[in-house]
Amino acid sequence: MSTGIRLHAPAPGWAIEADVVVVGSGVAGLTAALRCAAAGRRTVVVTKARLDDGSTRWAQGGIAAALGEGDTPEQHLDDTLVAGAGLCDEAAVRLLVTEGPDAVRRLIDTGAVFDTSDATGEIELTREGGHHRRRIAHAGGDATGAEISRALVAAVHDAGIETVENALVLDLLQDADGRTAGVTLHVMGEGQHDGVGAVHAPAVILATGGMGQVFSATTNPAVSTGDGVALALRAGAEISDLEFVQFHPTVLFLGPDAEGQQPLVSEAVRGEGAHLVDAGGVRFMAGQHELAELAPRDIVAKAIMRRMQEQGAHHMYLDARHFGAQMWEQRFPTILAACRAHGIDPVTEPIPVAPAAHYASGGVRTDLDGRTTVPGLYACGEVACTGVHGANRLASNSLLEGLVFAERIAADIAASSAPRTGPGIPVPSTGPLLSGETRLDIQRIMTEGAGVLRSAASLEQAADALEALYGAALTELETHGKTAEPGTDSWESTNLLCVARVLVAAARRRAETRGCHWREDHPDRDDENWHRHLVVRVSETERRALVVTTTDSADFPSVRHPPIQEQ
Ligand code: SIN
Repeated sequence: MSTGIRLHAPAPGWAIEADVVVVGSGVAGLTAALRCAAAGRRTVVVTKARLDDGSTRWAQGGIAAALGEGDTPEQHLDDTLVAGAGLCDEAAVRLLVTEGPDAVRRLIDTGAVFDTSDATGEIELTREGGHHRRRIAHAGGDATGAEISRALVAAVHDAGIETVENALVLDLLQDADGRTAGVTLHVMGEGQHDGVGAVHAPAVILATGGMGQVFSATTNPAVSTGDGVALALRAGAEISDLEFVQFHPTVLFLGPDAEGQQPLVSEAVRGEGAHLVDAGGVRFMAGQHELAELAPRDIVAKAIMRRMQEQGAHHMYLDARHFGAQMWEQRFPTILAACRAHGIDPVTEPIPVAPAAHYASGGVRTDLDGRTTVPGLYACGEVACTGVHGANRLASNSLLEGLVFAERIAADIAASSAPRTGPGIPVPSTGPLLSGETRLDIQRIMTEGAGVLRSAASLEQAADALEALYGAALTELETHGKTAEPGTDSWESTNLLCVARVLVAAARRRAETRGCHWREDHPDRDDENWHRHLVVRVSETERRALVVTTTDSADFPSVRHPPIQEQ
């Protein structure tokens, strides 16, 4: 059932009718849209910026799949399970690795052009952290996401799929039984539609990407404000594993106070032989893990942070001068250009790097067909928690996950004859809107209290500060009947606060270190108590505020509606 919590927004002034609305235009969203349209479903794609502006465009390293000679899905499965630190859903991983290679071939049929070897004509494969084999297909050297995005956008245009760009999705429309009936959205700026409207559809596919903007420095674009997770929570869906935020180890260091989207320096640079060194030129990953610089991402990020702490440094260095100018230009043109734009020449000097928020391993909980716990609401891509990533995503598994599970969702929709739902019941908003300015406060609080290294004390401080922000806005609403002016900035801040509160609640509860969740006060993995997932949903009984309730769920895929244990 719906929680009865909605964003304050004007009533929809226009509407579109569809069978399926896809929210988001990365690899997951556009693949789902293409497959739904091909199955004859009237499909509308709604996206926050331009069609090619999501996180997919920024993916550098590539897409992992067992395509190389001698590689097998089973080996890909093993590496994924090890990276996931005991919390992957093996059935989901098995689907990913077995359906992945053909899904990549279909992507190639759709028009994506991957780099191939001049000698053999075969797809060139590179390595990244946690992979024991060369398994990562790439395009344009280090511009894989941009090429995938180009091909899918062209295919969506060719298929004549209706798109609504510059549209921030607000809330799920649900009928009297809680079934999905569409979404409300706000079109920002010029377009065919203007202001708040609705797309009515019995199936909604959330593919809104991540929530990196909840931290001060992230590799994610400005649009990654957790809108999908916040919408799903308000609609009554379950969220899982949100405490597992992946910090990419090698993000170009632009200063201790750098904010917003930071340039990524792909793991593939290490895959091709770059070394991590400290200011004294010492290779500190050697001896820490059998894969050294190519250890799983959490291990490398932690080693960098420890070295930074020991040496009182703000960053470490990635040294790939030995590549030479030609290799840099051909293999990593995007990274080379980004470094040079910031005054660093990787051909002649080591690159300063530090970890920054990169990927949400958790998200809206789904089954193996991408169904969430709200009938008719699906999720795929970074917004989803399919169980594939566990406590730490294996490098370059995300584009593959987006592809595979988008196709599974489309197949599920094509196979079902979902009854047309009744009109969405308008639900009055009951929570406050945060002002746009609070975005910076939220980012600062989260970076200080819930970043790479966490403790009970730091998380408590973060929780208190977030509750103070929420409490002040709620009091203003309750006492003076006032809330921030509805608009993109206030909706985004409200969504960011929502996901920040859930993330901190889960991170406080998980009193162990596992995968990318690193607790200073509980430095070890605790399988006895914590070989389980934290599932979060908004209380259905408490309608005035966004009250987070957490439920431990040991058997992730089979428990669809766990009872609420505590508030
Ligand atoms: C990278 O290229 O290092 C990022 C790849 C990923 O996040 O999977």
